[in-house]
Amino acid sequence: MIPESFIQELLNRVDIVDVIDKCTPLKKAGANYSACCPFHNEKSPSFTVSPTKQFYHCFGCGAHGTAVGFLMEYQGLSFVEAINELARMVGMIVPQETRDTSKPEHKVVLGLQDSLQQAAQYYKAELKKSPRAIDYLKSRGLSGQVAAKFQVGYAPAGWQNLQNIFPNYESEALSVAGLVVENEQGRRYDRFRDRVMFPIHDTKGQVIGFGGRVINPEDTPKYYNSPETPLFQKGHELYGLFLARRAIRDAGRALVVEGYMDVVALAQYGIEYAVAALGTATTPFHITKLMRQTDEVVFCFDGDNAGRTAAWRAAMNALPALTDGLKLSFLFLPKEHDPDSYVREFGKETFELEIKAAMPLSQYILKHLSEDNPLLSQEDKVRFLNDAEPIMQQIHAPRSAMYLRKKVAELAQLSIDEMQSLLKLPNLTKAPAQARPKLTRTTSSLHKRFCLTMLMRPELASKDDLQWIVGNSEDEIILQQTIETCLVHPHSKPVVIMRELEQKVDAGVIRELEHELHALDETIDLAKELAGARQQLKQVYLQKNENELLAHISEKPLSTLTDNERNLLKSLGAKSKSK
Ligand code: UTP
Ligand code: MN
Repeated sequence: MIPESFIQELLNRVDIVDVIDKCTPLKKAGANYSACCPFHNEKSPSFTVSPTKQFYHCFGCGAHGTAVGFLMEYQGLSFVEAINELARMVGMIVPQETRDTSKPEHKVVLGLQDSLQQAAQYYKAELKKSPRAIDYLKSRGLSGQVAAKFQVGYAPAGWQNLQNIFPNYESEALSVAGLVVENEQGRRYDRFRDRVMFPIHDTKGQVIGFGGRVINPEDTPKYYNSPETPLFQKGHELYGLFLARRAIRDAGRALVVEGYMDVVALAQYGIEYAVAALGTATTPFHITKLMRQTDEVVFCFDGDNAGRTAAWRAAMNALPALTDGLKLSFLFLPKEHDPDSYVREFGKETFELEIKAAMPLSQYILKHLSEDNPLLSQEDKVRFLNDAEPIMQQIHAPRSAMYLRKKVAELAQLSIDEMQSLLKLPNLTKAPAQARPKLTRTTSSLHKRFCLTMLMRPELASKDDLQWIVGNSEDEIILQQTIETCLVHPHSKPVVIMRELEQKVDAGVIRELEHELHALDETIDLAKELAGARQQLKQVYLQKNENELLAHISEKPLSTLTDNERNLLKSLGAKSKSK
């Protein structure tokens, strides 16, 4: 028996995108990922995977499920085997349910944070003792001051140096933190050996991981990073953000670069507002994180082809997070440069002039779309529209979206109305609750909408709602159960909450919810949507109560009514007439 709490924790921790991508390469398509369905034969992709919901779904054959379900189907594993496989992928240990305790034990790794902190101190102290590492950093032009500021360290050569500072070298914390790795015989050794160490901090300034660079140019990989741990998720963290916060506020902008060395070199030259994505593409999480600090973000990637590809991916990933108050731009360095080499050669002033002249996102998009499209023939223009459509679909910021649409229409030689009637683009008018024509006002669809948005944002569930959502129709029961489950799991992904719900309500209802969850447009402002649904539903219940009261009172002879009841009758009657 595997404890339910573990399965839920596991589903929260694995990313279904990684799991499926290993078997069937996925391509990003808007908020989701897509591929040709591995479960039936098809030429165009109708298989989608949602990273936020953690479900997959095929519109072609109807296959759908969780990461566990996928492995069972695809690799023919049993449930327990699939759980074991997933646990292995994220480095969790599957506990066995103990019969004698009613409470399933919940593994929390103690001392994770402390271990990382201690390791950072150790690496820092080791740097002072290693002339070779110091020489390397000097050869790259790093000043002692900036090295100290970034707490740069050195992991000495040798297999088990960390034994010197961790008396319990076998502790679980060390392996979960990614400081040690185990070979097949179960022997442990240090993950980082003979590398210059860059500690990675979270926004509170705590060390959550490391990047280590080789000194020997022959060694590979050039950079070795901490694995994903409960504290460290690459897609969420930005290197240097903690140290850059002040400077970002002061400069009114953040600069996103590719490498550790870029951040450090820029800081040394007085550009202290740079951060780096950690060897991954810039994600919407990164953008949202930066938007909390500033409303101007400049991306500056390396001048090589890889840098250009990274820039375009960053642009595409930023689309859903765009707001009209946010300014994004892109700085393209000459081919042979990265920010590190550029600032060393040309200095702060020139670099900052370049930053100020960086290309705005809208211009970049248009330039990219027309790069190898001469826009001469009708076919060229059709292709241009096809390429532009998915991009425009993701922009919900009304003003930015409208200007881009106008430009695209112009280039495609259509009027904006003609273009909008051809393409499926989001409605840009304000007040989303009214602009959504699909919202019929039956209470069932309201219940559903409330329920679905809450599944996406469980932290917004409120105990108060249970006070007024009374009754025991199917809709009401599912909603009550959803609220209760969300209150217990405010930080879980939809997939986990559904799993819990499955044990409380009819499985058929859950399947139906799952299908609707798939269709839910997750680029909308879910919090607003939830608040809107709550308000409308409340209205419905209020009305229902009033009607019942009214019916109750009006059955009585007028003379037997109290003053209060009479007043109520008057006010309700007046209200219903004015409708
Ligand atoms: P670069 O190769 O551009 O690194 O990779 P860099 O910072 O300019 O390195 P130097 O100047 O040679 O020291 C950019 C980033 O990609 C990740 C790292 O985060 C790196 O900073 N990366 C690169 C890895 O994770 N692993 C690698 O093997 C290489
Ligand atoms: Mn470099």
